[in-house]
Amino acid sequence: MRGRLGGMCGRTAQGHPRRAGHFFIRAKIWRVSANDRPQGTPSQTYDSAFLKACRREPVPHTPVWFMRQAGRSLPEYRKLREGTQMLESCMRPDLVTEITLQPVRRHDVDAAIFFSDIVVPLKAIGVDLDIKPGIGPVVARPIRSRADLAQLRDLTPEDVSYVTEAIGMLTGELGSTPLIGFAGAPFTLASYLVEGGPSKNHEHTKALMYGDPELWADLLDRLAEITSAFLKVQIEAGASAVQLFDSWVGALAPADYRRSVMPASAKVLESVASYGVPRIHFGVGTGELLGLMGEAGADVMGVDYRVSLDEAVRRVGPGKALQGNLDPAVLFSTPQAVEAKTDEVLAAAAGLEGHVFNLGHGVLPTTDPDALTRLVDYVHTRTAR
Ligand code: CP3
Repeated sequence: MRGRLGGMCGRTAQGHPRRAGHFFIRAKIWRVSANDRPQGTPSQTYDSAFLKACRREPVPHTPVWFMRQAGRSLPEYRKLREGTQMLESCMRPDLVTEITLQPVRRHDVDAAIFFSDIVVPLKAIGVDLDIKPGIGPVVARPIRSRADLAQLRDLTPEDVSYVTEAIGMLTGELGSTPLIGFAGAPFTLASYLVEGGPSKNHEHTKALMYGDPELWADLLDRLAEITSAFLKVQIEAGASAVQLFDSWVGALAPADYRRSVMPASAKVLESVASYGVPRIHFGVGTGELLGLMGEAGADVMGVDYRVSLDEAVRRVGPGKALQGNLDPAVLFSTPQAVEAKTDEVLAAAAGLEGHVFNLGHGVLPTTDPDALTRLVDYVHTRTAR
């Protein structure tokens, strides 16, 4: 059976029959215990290697997925995106579904990540912003005063009905492969909003954080509310894990993180705790923050490539799985070098309670997709038990 966009075959990459064309009807009552299967997660999905690793249960092989696995490294993505702006494509359930499925089909990864962007919920509540190719999110009127906060109203499920629709289509197509929902964490969103775009030094953001702590706390609290609402929409629609991206928080010292950022991130993570789906938390250059970010409440800590996983687990402490952490630039080297560096990651992960293999940051746009496919196969083979 072929899917709506012509690319589907009758089985998922893991060999399970697809349930294309019909969707689960989900009751909106959720169990409270994290040890129970969440209401929205079908049992084959619950028993997938990815969700087991997140729960620190034994796995048949180490599961693999890649941040930014859906995107410019794939020729089929570039073709599909021709003539459609990034934000527009995030609002079209047919495109979102197809783009999210592309890397699952091609690489046999153990999880799909919902195709969207961290600024989608901000756009949805009317913030005047765009994603410029090669630059990233650009905000028309940066938020730097109390009056500017008025740009941030609450997010309702109706604001992002296209997300609910896309996730309904996706979980029907994905079979037992879990779908990861995601959102940007309050600090990283604040950085785009206060700077007005991508920033190396986050100077306006830090100026506000140090100069007007009250306004800063209110801004982060607003963003925590919006982010919580966005994650809830994704979980209620069928996402069986979520990742909170605090990509740029590595710019902060631990004391500033604890005082000025951690309460808002903890509020977001706590707001979805009762659903019982694993919560992954990740940032770049966060070696010095791993312990605190773990304390903020995640079930799985994402680790970038600068800290080895055996050291990361000492910093995070027991009771959490780790995700990571091959340097994405390694994929530009020879297949032998990729295997050797992968072996290093797997050796460092050997003593972990739970390990999800990933890159230490997103797939770089010029990565050879075949190198990614080979990497998935290599990790699966090396870790088969
Ligand atoms: O496969 C996946 O991981 C899902 C898709 C995804 C996108 N953005 C699609 C995207 C995810 C998870 C994100 C999150 C995101 N967006 C983050 C956190 C992850 C990280 O990398 O740390 C951040 C910081 C952003 C903000 C953002 N959006 C940046 C920095 C860029 C790149 C700008 C560029 O063109 O180099 C974007 C745009 C964007 N988001 C693209 C994609 C596929 C590229 C747009 C295109 O294809 O033209």
